Amino acid sequence: MSWRTEQLSDSVTLHCGDCREILPTLGKIDAVVSDPPYGMAWDTDSTRFTGGNRKRPDEGRADFGAITADAEPFDPKRWLAFPEVILWGANHFGARLPVGSTLVWIKKSVRAFGTFLSDAEIGWQKGGHGVYCKYVEFQGGLARKAENDGVQAAHPTQKPIDLMLWCVQRTKGRTILDPYMGSGTTGIACARLGRRFIGIVIEPKYFDTACRRLEIEAKQERLFAQAPAAPEPAQQMPLGLGGEA
Ligand SMILES: C[S@@+](CC[C@H](N)C(=O)[O-])C[C@H]1O[C@@H](n2cnc3c(N)ncnc32)[C@H](O)[C@@H]1O
Repeated sequence: MSWRTEQLSDSVTLHCGDCREILPTLGKIDAVVSDPPYGMAWDTDSTRFTGGNRKRPDEGRADFGAITADAEPFDPKRWLAFPEVILWGANHFGARLPVGSTLVWIKKSVRAFGTFLSDAEIGWQKGGHGVYCKYVEFQGGLARKAENDGVQAAHPTQKPIDLMLWCVQRTKGRTILDPYMGSGTTGIACARLGRRFIGIVIEPKYFDTACRRLEIEAKQERLFAQAPAAPEPAQQMPLGLGGEA
């Protein structure tokens, strides 16, 4: 299978193709941070639960079709040798993982209490043995639309940027690889944290989405870089600590 590459900047390279074929061509990778297909044959038609959401396309809920490779068990083996590794969906392939740290994304929304969604998702990080939790409320279509800068839900299993910021911050490496980047959320987190990012996705529609999201991110960064620095606020003594004679 041939693949396509977009070098968006010195620090962002995106590939459209099969990560197993592209991996041997990549240079030094310090960390793998990814949300691979879990092997659960997830039905991405979110309208199946209510039968009504198709009437509200502005919420970005849709039938995205099957996620490539999600119907077969995920084998994490080829990613485990990298110096730092974080993989989401670990409860689905836990028997194939060595002991490591457990990451818990608590996503249950109080407002959506009683819906079909899981309360949390489980990730695995290479090394250690602790359990670490992050609360980021699950984002429905409108919240995602805001995060996507007006683009409707970019991917059926799109992760929140805040969650991926937390993951990338848990690694130290300069160059991060997401071999199953979907719509590129890990890349946005890397851009915001000044890390180099290499992203791969097999489906051209998600590759195009990732390119677009990262281009928007780069433009915003340039805007911020050009904005004049705000003046430093005048130094004030904390209340109650003023110098008393
Ligand atoms: C769980 S999704 C990742 C979603 C991502 N976290 C986001 O925020 O958009 C996994 C992605 O891996 C892609 N994929 C499946 N097999 C692949 C392969 N062999 N190489 C590259 N990408 C693959 C699927 O197309 C899917 O978009």
